[in-house]
Amino acid sequence: MPSAEMIALARAVMGRAYAPYSKFRVGAVLRGANGKLYAGCNVENSAYPQGTCAEVAAIAAMVADGERRIVEALVMGEGEVLIAPCGGCRQHLREFAADMVPIHLCDCTGVRRTVTMGELLPLAFGPHHLAGPPHDDGG
Ligand code: THU
Repeated sequence: MPSAEMIALARAVMGRAYAPYSKFRVGAVLRGANGKLYAGCNVENSAYPQGTCAEVAAIAAMVADGERRIVEALVMGEGEVLIAPCGGCRQHLREFAADMVPIHLCDCTGVRRTVTMGELLPLAFGPHHLAGPPHDDGG
C-alpha cells in the first residue's frame, strides 16, 4: 500500500490539474530510489495534441531533480471507471521503472487496485534492449 503522504500528494496535485477540455483530472506521484516523492498533473491545451499527461509531468520533475529510478508509482483519476495509465504513459514509466515496480491505481478515496509495471506493459521494449540503461550512464 502507498503511504498516506503519497495519496494526499496525488489528491492535491490532481486538484491542480488543468483539464478544461476533457474535465478529467489526473494526478501522478512517483517515489524515486532516493525516497523522495515527485508529483505531476495533466496540463491540457486548446491545441489538443499539445496536452500532457500527469505521469509525464511527474517523470520530468523526477529527472530534473537528478533521480532516474522509480520504485513505486501512483496514478489517481476522477470518475467511476478504474484509472489506467494510457499506452504512451506506460512506455514513459517503463523507461525508469523495472517490471516489479508497484503501480497503484486510485480514485480520490484511495487505492482501487495495485499492479506491477510488467503487468501494465508486458513484453516491453525498454532500456535493456539498447546499449545500456540510461539510469547510470552519467549523462
Ligand atoms: N491522462 C493522463 O494524464 N494520464 C493518463 O494516463 C491518461 C490520460 C489525461 C490526458 C487528458 O488530459 C485527460 O487525462 C483525458 O484523456
